[in-house]
Amino acid sequence: MAKDSFTVGLGNNDSLTRKLAEEDYVKFWEKEAEKLQWSEKWSKSLEWDPPFARWFVGGRINACYNALDVTVRKNGKKPAILWEGENGTSRTLTYRDLLDYVCRAANTLKSLGVRKGDRVTIYLPMVPELMVSLLACARIGAVHTVIFSGFSSQSIRDRVSDSKSKVIITADGGFRRGEIIKLKRIVDEAISDLDFVESVLVLEHAKIPVEMGRRDKRWADLVNAASNICEPEEVESTHPLYILYTSGTTGKPKGVLHGTGGYLVHVNSTFKWLFDVKDSDIYFCTADIGWVTGHSYVVYGPLMHGATQVMYEGALVYPTPSRIWEMVERYKITVLYTTPTALRMLMKYGDTLSDSKDLSSLRLLGSVGEPINPEVWLWYFRVIGKERCPIVDTWWQTETGGTMISALPGLETAPMKPGSASRQVPGINVGVVDENGKDLPPGKKGYLVIKAPWPGMLLSLWGDDEKYKTVYWSKYPKMYYPGDFAIRDEDGYIWMLGRADDVLKVAGHRLGTAEIESGFVSHGAVAEAAVCGIPHEVKGESVISFLVLKEGAAWDIRLRDELVQHIRKTVGPIAVPDQFYVVSKLPKTRSGKIMRRLLKAVAKNEKIGDVSTLEDEAAVEEIRSAFKELEREIEGSKLR
Ligand code: PRX
Repeated sequence: MAKDSFTVGLGNNDSLTRKLAEEDYVKFWEKEAEKLQWSEKWSKSLEWDPPFARWFVGGRINACYNALDVTVRKNGKKPAILWEGENGTSRTLTYRDLLDYVCRAANTLKSLGVRKGDRVTIYLPMVPELMVSLLACARIGAVHTVIFSGFSSQSIRDRVSDSKSKVIITADGGFRRGEIIKLKRIVDEAISDLDFVESVLVLEHAKIPVEMGRRDKRWADLVNAASNICEPEEVESTHPLYILYTSGTTGKPKGVLHGTGGYLVHVNSTFKWLFDVKDSDIYFCTADIGWVTGHSYVVYGPLMHGATQVMYEGALVYPTPSRIWEMVERYKITVLYTTPTALRMLMKYGDTLSDSKDLSSLRLLGSVGEPINPEVWLWYFRVIGKERCPIVDTWWQTETGGTMISALPGLETAPMKPGSASRQVPGINVGVVDENGKDLPPGKKGYLVIKAPWPGMLLSLWGDDEKYKTVYWSKYPKMYYPGDFAIRDEDGYIWMLGRADDVLKVAGHRLGTAEIESGFVSHGAVAEAAVCGIPHEVKGESVISFLVLKEGAAWDIRLRDELVQHIRKTVGPIAVPDQFYVVSKLPKTRSGKIMRRLLKAVAKNEKIGDVSTLEDEAAVEEIRSAFKELEREIEGSKLR
């Protein structure tokens, strides 16, 4: 029998922090804000004009200064990045190196006409220059908008068109599982007719030939020649630091807009409470900077604490599945922060793989991005952490900026329950409510909500305040709605139960069903499409698609392969469904909504009885007949 709780701490026992936070969360965050370097102190800690929050109003700050100069003044020789490429190449950059490099890149951006408030799109692999590019934008008050280098040209096109970036930073190519992804070529395809893009700065990383057009400039030519002195631009606390696009329930991805002061405060404090990183630590977060975890806990969090971290370009299981454990041994990594998908994949290879490496340096383990199954949690705890290391299962979102629910060993020693994300972070007010927004008693499943503003909270959606209001603040007018199901137990521990909306989490990546569906219908052979997610042993969820073909289109392997390529191109490789079902019509409610739960049931081979209880009475009959019809139709339509 599995024990239901474990207590392993770092010996920290600070009961005051939670008490202060409960007494007055605004004052509490004000105290936390004092831990950063401000060039001008704020006049008002919080301006709350629901649903818009402005933190530390009147304050002036620079994100890059807090991330780099603060440590350089103390000890510039401290290694900031221990970078490793997939093929084994390595580079070390100290805080001083990083600051010089960032200043040169910042001056380059200036020379390309980038000014405070301008957007810069960054599409780079996990190389130090990716971190340098973000910080260079922050240094001059430009707004970075990073696109994960696994995204397709169509995704880049949508995001660049929305953010109207003047400059794009990319590389000739990046490495993944022994292959070179031709990034520059993908950018060329994406922006060929986007005239507002003035320059494309190209890093030579993979050393492959690229075509250089009139807007293209080589990174080395400009950055190496630029001055390494660049004064940080002191921006208002509420000045946008970045836009990061993420998937939602409708249409195209939305640009989550984060400010500077509040965001940095949230990330700075949570990084400390989660990991308590000291000078002697070697920290490794496996997230790509293309996702919010990378923004908060690879770039800003660790750097503001002067941490030394490992940065890796490539797949964790390449060239062999023991790659990650070899890295733990080689760098003597002390804090490891990764995803349940990576852990499930590694767990499948068995314990001998990790047992054959020296993992004794590890002292703390983290998980992020999706619910972690209790058995995976226990494996992480026992096999990887040898029951010595606390585990932080951190719940948060692109929109929240930083962690909202987690165990906090940097603050307190509290029991950990495998599968629960633990309690709310101090200063965060989390609730579990019913459909009407009423608090639910312990043990009852409901919707997670955040009841008060927090410093890392998004400012809005880029260029779309109305959508911001509708998406997050219309279900419950005075509470932020993240879109997750949860249960709170008697001890106040939160158990996350997955998404309550049409957002999928595939291998930790957030995908909107609508996004994939419009990808399908943009192909000439598809009339209608519906996708849903079903549980997957490793990826957490996998995508299943139901397609109605246009007159004259025939379903065969060729068309299937063509559609796979089409989805890779229009949405991205992670969105490619694992299964395709071709049907003559999609089951819909009278109001025309696709019955996704029915589709899910079909894909999971569930019985109709299981579904009928979930739908409202009137729809049951309709579902029953649609289900039968579907079952008949999908026979023979599956081409996996
Ligand atoms: O459903 C929750 C899930 O990931 C969503 C947010 O996704 P994204 O914006 O991509 O950010 C991921 C990295 C912070 C949430 O709404 N999620 C994230 N962390 C957890 C989680 N679900 C369960 N447990 C977690 N620890």
